[in-house]
Amino acid sequence: MGVTVDGVAVRLRDVTPDDADLLDRWSAPEFKGSFNDFGIPRAPVDREALARGPMRNERNGQLIVERLSDGEAIGTVSWHLERYGPNDESGAWNVGIALIPDARGHGYGTEAQRLVADFLFATTNLHRVEASTDVENLAEQRSLEKAGFIREAVLRGVQYRAGAWHDLVNYARLRDD
Ligand SMILES: CC(C)(COP(=O)(O)OP(=O)(O)OC[C@H]1O[C@@H](n2cnc3c(N)ncnc32)[C@H](O)[C@@H]1OP(=O)(O)O)[C@@H](O)C(=O)NCCC(=O)NCCS
Repeated sequence: MGVTVDGVAVRLRDVTPDDADLLDRWSAPEFKGSFNDFGIPRAPVDREALARGPMRNERNGQLIVERLSDGEAIGTVSWHLERYGPNDESGAWNVGIALIPDARGHGYGTEAQRLVADFLFATTNLHRVEASTDVENLAEQRSLEKAGFIREAVLRGVQYRAGAWHDLVNYARLRDD
């Protein structure tokens, strides 16, 4: 059964084989943004795997962000499992987002991040949805705050990108926030 999560301005939906070319194009730095650019070329989308089903399993997943006004695909949200202890209850979803440049600054990213957290709380038992971003990525920090995430901590020197170590700021929504 395919996933579709409707908001006011955007919809999250499963990735389909028709999206493969688009996703390959979006893996270029000019699309995914400098904060998501680790200088590592991404392998092309596995078309055979995609033909077998959507990009979701018990450890990670990805959905397309679609603008409702014109049905255009404008980016992706993704998540993966983080563990803070050996028991299932200590798992958390770590989410990420990238919108194409033209779609930024219209509130779509905020709604998409709210929707993906709502979706993960509704469809799994985990207690925590988290996200981290560069301390200089003010648009993402503001967007996460508007999407209901709480700022928690700065992780010093935790990410190596563009020839330097970067500090990240951590945000989370708990199921009972
Ligand atoms: C980060 C991103 C997801 C935000 O989504 P978006 O749709 O552009 O964001 P929104 O329009 O919902 O909100 C952005 C907020 O940040 C603010 N903002 C934008 N640029 C800013 C800046 N340079 N300084 C401070 N605030 C900024 C906006 O004013 C807005 O807040 P407001 O509504 O209070 O005015 C999107 O811009 C994106 O995909 N960027 C590239 C990839 C990326 O950085 N992903 C996150 C990596 S961890």
